[in-house]
Amino acid sequence: MASSEPIVYINSEYLPQSQACVSVLDRGFLFGDGVYEVIPVFGGKPLRLNEHLDRLQRSMDRVSLSNPLSRDQWKEVFSLLLEKNPGADRSIYLQVTRGAAPVRDLSVEADIDPTVFVMVNDIKPVDYARLENGIEAITVDDFRWKACDIKSVSLIANVMIRLQANAKSVMDAVMVRDGLVTEGTASNIFVVQNGVISTPPKSDCLLPGITRDLVIDLARANNFVVEERDIRQSELQTADEIWLTSSTREIAPVVKLDNRPVGDGVAGEYWRKLIGIYQDYKQELRHG
Ligand SMILES: Cc1ncc(COP(=O)(O)O)c(C=O)c1O
Repeated sequence: MASSEPIVYINSEYLPQSQACVSVLDRGFLFGDGVYEVIPVFGGKPLRLNEHLDRLQRSMDRVSLSNPLSRDQWKEVFSLLLEKNPGADRSIYLQVTRGAAPVRDLSVEADIDPTVFVMVNDIKPVDYARLENGIEAITVDDFRWKACDIKSVSLIANVMIRLQANAKSVMDAVMVRDGLVTEGTASNIFVVQNGVISTPPKSDCLLPGITRDLVIDLARANNFVVEERDIRQSELQTADEIWLTSSTREIAPVVKLDNRPVGDGVAGEYWRKLIGIYQDYKQELRHG
């Protein structure tokens, strides 16, 4: 039992998961006062590691949290944890909260130590036959705050919106703010129409996804036309293809939205091409 238990990193220690503890006064627990990252790892190689660490730094700057580890220290923790938790494809989950103060108070004590937690999870190999079936989604009003660019552990709004989708027996929701499409509950969105691939521009209304940027780079490198522009909700109804992208989901085609087929109601030809290019990129990362 003990040997199969995952080893996690908690505040400078490597411990079996069941022995890792956090104070009940931790501000992450009490207020959702923390930030996180999810970094996929293929063949032992983290995908776009520097970009993930850049985004972590930006999230921390936005919430006035100083980074407890240097870039090299983060990399050292990741490689030790990957060594201690051998496996095939994995994802690194890291979370930094503002730490535990002596009393529950919204005001921040100057001298508390942040809580640093890192774990490694298996990524199930993507089942492409299943991915190709696509997912169903609904559109939902994006009532979140105007700081969605922070990868905050406070995800209650995303949970509420995901619950709305699940209550309608669909997997996800596409969020819309003031008539403009923002993102999925845990993913960015792409729309394909007349051969042009579009995605909303970065702003405080959406998370700057690492997969989003990678898909844009790979598409442009392969001579696809990609536009970062506002997408009106009405465009979802006429789109040939809609995709949701994230580190764990990669590129998922949405085949039905609000109970209506997207395009032909099946994964489209642009998705097919891009998912192939994405797989090649992962293979190169594994063996490069
Ligand atoms: C709200 C939201 N948008 C977008 C993404 C996609 O980000 P990434 O591609 O870095 O996984 C995520 C990932 O969890 C997310 O939670």
